[in-house]
Amino acid sequence: MRKAGFRFTTDVPDFINSNMLTDNVIVPESQHTAQASLAALKEGVKEEVKLGQLTFLAEKRGADYTIWPTVCPHEGAKMRKDKICEKGAIHCHWHGRAFPSVTLSQSGRTTFKYIDLTIRLNGDVLAVEMPRQKKWDEPHIAPSVPIDPSQELSGASF
Ligand code: FES
Repeated sequence: MRKAGFRFTTDVPDFINSNMLTDNVIVPESQHTAQASLAALKEGVKEEVKLGQLTFLAEKRGADYTIWPTVCPHEGAKMRKDKICEKGAIHCHWHGRAFPSVTLSQSGRTTFKYIDLTIRLNGDVLAVEMPRQKKWDEPHIAPSVPIDPSQELSGASF
């Protein structure tokens, strides 16, 4: 993944990202949009679709398409279609987190809540808009601040 430009918040480890199941994957910046046709998908069959450096799973359901990213936002495991449950969530086989799909109609656009990716559907063409703003020297998440126990307890009444 690093060769493809992915980075991880754990490259700058702190107590939180080292000890909790936080979203650590930083998707590479890009100045362009990658797109692919979904016209060849068969009804009700989940298939991998490559969009630039990213792979998604897509399933045609009538006029709609259901989409899952295959990169786990935690540590970047490649999630598999055999780990999609009956309710539609994809389960990561590394640490067990689960992520919902999104469904797009003929012309729709949405951003995944758990990974910094926006996808757009125009007819049968799926496009991904990769993040463009982030710079590695800007913190992706607020750095954790050590707790001062004397401050934490001041004003507390027991
Ligand atoms: S890599 Fe940890 S839950 Fe997916």
